[in-house]
Amino acid sequence: MIVVTKVNIDDGSTIWAQGGIAAVLDPADTTQAHLADTLVAGVGLCDEAAVEVLVTEGPGRLHELIALGAQFDRNPDGSLALTREGGHHADRIVHAGGDATGVEVQRALHAAVRRDPGLQVVEHALVLDLLPGADGRAAGITLHVLGEGTPDGVGAVLARAVVLATGGMGQVYAATTNPSVSTGDGVALGLRAGAVVTDVEFVQFHPTVLFLGADAGKGQQPLVSEALRGEGAILVDAAGTPFMRDVHELADLAPRDVVAKAITRVLLEQDVEHVYLDARHLGAGVLAHRFPTITARCRQAGIDPVHEPIPVTPAAHYASGGLRTDLDGRTSVPGLYACGEVSCTGVHGANRLASNSLLEGLVFAGRIGADLARDLPSQAEPRDLDTPTGLLDPGVRPAVTEAMTQGAGVLRSAVSLADTLGQLDRLGEKTSTDPGPSAWEATNLHTVATALAAAAERRTETRGCHWRTDHAGADERWRGHLLASIDADGELREQYEPAR
Ligand code: SIN
Repeated sequence: MIVVTKVNIDDGSTIWAQGGIAAVLDPADTTQAHLADTLVAGVGLCDEAAVEVLVTEGPGRLHELIALGAQFDRNPDGSLALTREGGHHADRIVHAGGDATGVEVQRALHAAVRRDPGLQVVEHALVLDLLPGADGRAAGITLHVLGEGTPDGVGAVLARAVVLATGGMGQVYAATTNPSVSTGDGVALGLRAGAVVTDVEFVQFHPTVLFLGADAGKGQQPLVSEALRGEGAILVDAAGTPFMRDVHELADLAPRDVVAKAITRVLLEQDVEHVYLDARHLGAGVLAHRFPTITARCRQAGIDPVHEPIPVTPAAHYASGGLRTDLDGRTSVPGLYACGEVSCTGVHGANRLASNSLLEGLVFAGRIGADLARDLPSQAEPRDLDTPTGLLDPGVRPAVTEAMTQGAGVLRSAVSLADTLGQLDRLGEKTSTDPGPSAWEATNLHTVATALAAAAERRTETRGCHWRTDHAGADERWRGHLLASIDADGELREQYEPAR
């Protein structure tokens, strides 16, 4: 098996995860309760069968990760320490290193990959397109090797099956918790290969990233984990007034879309750039022990959370949609699988429940592995691939992110989305003469931005993390999914499918 990764093997989003992994481990908790919380957060659009798989297989997969070597925080009696996050009615979040869960998960997985002689890792290689097979099946991928220790150039890898685990698309926005590699490459590749993409309008904005000043709010922003609120931190406005108690019965631990909207309302009503997360009452000991990463990052920015509230604001965090898959991770293109944030398994609906993302990766990666072990197809005969045309000038990238941030961010309307789509249309004319990796990334960002904005324009309601200022509230007629694909003429097509 060959693992191809565009920068280093640990340069994805996993390493940035703070809060943890949700799983039912407390005897007083139940998988039915986890299922119910997930469905409520997803506002009518979760696929219940997929959520059932997620919550019932999750604990077993977590124990497999522990057996692989991942070390999670434990109580004095040796049991796994569990905390709570937004939308959960029970303590079920497993964490590591206090608030450095992703670092530990990444370390354990990377060590397991290194130990496995059957795995070949190719770093610094951007996957470009799916290599189509003569019979419509995936036959491999094309890739651009970036010349770190190997000659720079374009090549291909033949494969009996291709699993995309390329992460999200947060870089379509100016401010995001996602690393610079999250440019929607997998979703764009899938669309070009004819795969169906769904729910892309549901981009989750994390309520709390550290506000570092208006000028610093571009690119990857430091996350301030929801687990801090799980341990008792409270959102307050500039006057020190808590504002979540009147919004939701779970107050500061309401589902993420509710909290992000409440913060955005305060920002608009008070004409301010941030609110505050007050964690002072947790005390120096809890902050140092449970939240070492956040405490250090705040101090680096000149803010001491022991003595002052933390300035926070929402930022793009997670793509709830992606390449549509079945319960074994299969996309609509035979032989092409998708896993993690690039996929849409149906577990998140209109708004992902906190700490269900690492869990989804674990559970559905296991299912993909089992499916491939059961039924690995023979190598498809590769068809000749057309020379790529229409790659975009890398210089369009800042304009794409600006257009998306202005018109398709946490607040959207018919007017703002039409403006964004108009700008994206014009930017789509600016083609590149150099088909290098930067042109591919710019093209991928533009492709996913267009699919996202088009779906957001079409969905004339407010549901989950899709907030239309011109359509208050959810509309029963929209309790379904927008499916997008690219047709033979290269046109983006959308189709509505009622929820099951
Ligand atoms: C967080 O720690 O707040 C992020 C966890 C998640 O995205 O589920």
